[in-house]
Amino acid sequence: MAQLIGGLATSHIPSIGNAIAKGLQQDPYWKPFFDGFPPIRDWLAEQKPDVAVVFYNDHGLNFFLDKMPTFAVGAAAEYHNADEGWGIPTLPPYRGSPELSWHLINHLIDQEFDVVTCQEMLVDHAFTVPLKLFWPQEICPVTTVPICINTVQFPLPSAKRVYALGKAVGAAIRSWKSDRKVVVLGTGGLSHQLDGERAGFINKDFDLKFMQSLQSNPEWATQYSIHELVEKTGTQGVELLMWLAMRGALSTGGSGVRTVHSNYHIPISNTATGVMALAQVD
Ligand code: DHB
Ligand code: FE
Repeated sequence: MAQLIGGLATSHIPSIGNAIAKGLQQDPYWKPFFDGFPPIRDWLAEQKPDVAVVFYNDHGLNFFLDKMPTFAVGAAAEYHNADEGWGIPTLPPYRGSPELSWHLINHLIDQEFDVVTCQEMLVDHAFTVPLKLFWPQEICPVTTVPICINTVQFPLPSAKRVYALGKAVGAAIRSWKSDRKVVVLGTGGLSHQLDGERAGFINKDFDLKFMQSLQSNPEWATQYSIHELVEKTGTQGVELLMWLAMRGALSTGGSGVRTVHSNYHIPISNTATGVMALAQVD
């Protein structure tokens, strides 16, 4: 059976893509953010995962407001990036993992998650920026399965439902008849609000409690409704649901998870940034 080695989470701000393209990692503004990544890259170099299952939210590149699936799973041989208007370089296509995609889709439908299946899917900054942060090499060494969760157009799925989706994805990965090593990613957050009266809103206290909960009490955030999460984290901060899906995929039995490394830094652009790697230990 496939081995689920652990989970990764990071913020996914477009300007990070520009900073990478311009080589600004040591610049005083960027350094406290980029310094969160080398210990995690060392762990990945040791673990050598083959496939990354990526929970993220599309921002209007592949799905627009006219058609907005709650949950959508990629099932393509490759995923193209395209210009979103942020001025970041368009990256070459990412390799898919269609066999794992269809295994996940079959398992999820069987578990009554009626997902949309996408045999063509453009991937935006929420997919490309995190993959570049964790694997900066020219060609991304892992194959990928994108899973989109709607955090753009209301109604959004509840934190409880997103955690349950993550659990179902984790069980499906562990039941995949393959010798591959799999890592799950969640991208987005942490607290931020890009528009309206509270534009610029950040909630460090909540972000740090949330990051801590993923280690010791992963269901903590499921006590909150979507509206409570928006109130506590901002309209776009609700993207932290992706971190919850990632954590749901990891097993809670045995000794659970070990935090390999985490970092929190305010702000990059308008956003509180976090990064975290959790190793599955049982
Ligand atoms: C920013 C943050 C995001 O999550 C995003 O998708 C776009 C922009 C920002 O802070 O600039
Ligand atoms: Fe975003």
